[in-house]
Amino acid sequence: MSIRTLYSRLAPIVAIVALVGATTGAQSRDPQAAVNAAYEHFKGLKEGKNADYIPALAKVDPNLFGIALVTVDGKVFTAGDVKTEVSIQSISKVFTMAQVIQEQGLGSVEKQIGVDATGARFNSIIAVEGVRTVVGTGAAEMNPLVNAGAISATSMVTGATSDAVWNKIIGFHNAAAGRDLRVLQDVYKSEADTNQRNQAIGALMLAYGYIKSNWQQAVDLYTRQCSIGVNARDLATMAATLAAGGKNPLTGRTVLDADKVPGVLAVMVTAGLYDDSGKWLYHTGLPAKSGVGGGLLAVSPGKFGIAVVSPPLDDAGNSVRAQRAITEISNALGGNPLAAAAR
Ligand code: DON
Repeated sequence: MSIRTLYSRLAPIVAIVALVGATTGAQSRDPQAAVNAAYEHFKGLKEGKNADYIPALAKVDPNLFGIALVTVDGKVFTAGDVKTEVSIQSISKVFTMAQVIQEQGLGSVEKQIGVDATGARFNSIIAVEGVRTVVGTGAAEMNPLVNAGAISATSMVTGATSDAVWNKIIGFHNAAAGRDLRVLQDVYKSEADTNQRNQAIGALMLAYGYIKSNWQQAVDLYTRQCSIGVNARDLATMAATLAAGGKNPLTGRTVLDADKVPGVLAVMVTAGLYDDSGKWLYHTGLPAKSGVGGGLLAVSPGKFGIAVVSPPLDDAGNSVRAQRAITEISNALGGNPLAAAAR
């Protein structure tokens, strides 16, 4: 068969494959088109429910939906509402952990808290009981992305006063987002009034040696960091900072040393979506972190950071629309770091 005949036989098949790819988005390499398509696909999705164990979160508009993608070379693509702020909640755990690692090295968090999955819900007390005898050995099935480990990580940020510690925490978040963030006072008050469970976890972590200083201060600052207001663009910039080896691609400022980024991403892979982390990884391959405020950010190393804000959550505490939209967009753009083209 001549090359010309072969080409004329294959041409219709190639055209059909391209058409199917374009309709499903599977072959898309245009970030704005992928972001727009996901916004259209999921804006009508009504599954999930706002968190209500922190009363202020139940009042947030469940229709809020914004998508932002920031590439490592500083291009920004958005759809929907990327300006309205929600509380960052557990996503702050990534950046406080990163702050401790930046100052005290990768070994500090591994030894003092642990970097393994707990296999339990994010605010589990049983998980704390499980690690009571192994503090400081690096063997704990604990990590800084569940509440117990996160309160411990906050307690590890150094500073002579509570204000000094707070300035470091908010400063690190600001640097990653590329702007000055503020605490949403209504959320902070609402959570501070109802966080007795976290106070119990903080007291236990002190009793078992995971917290070495003032546990009440650690719980208070943890509650405050969870109340930082962020929009989808902020979260995508924070994710892009990790995707770009620790340098904020919009400000050019180095926030975290490049050699420390893989450790932070590894804990996100292990525990970023709590007990659904494995399922998430199976479909996306992306280090990610969710918050009960409805934010979800994900990192495609060397490529982009992406975030969605949409408050209704599933049973594990992760935003329903955010998971669906990020999965679709990242897979359309070849964002899965575990995927390699066949050679
Ligand atoms: O400690 C809490 O319960 C909240 N401030 C944060 C929880 C959270 O975001 C869990 N995420 N999915």
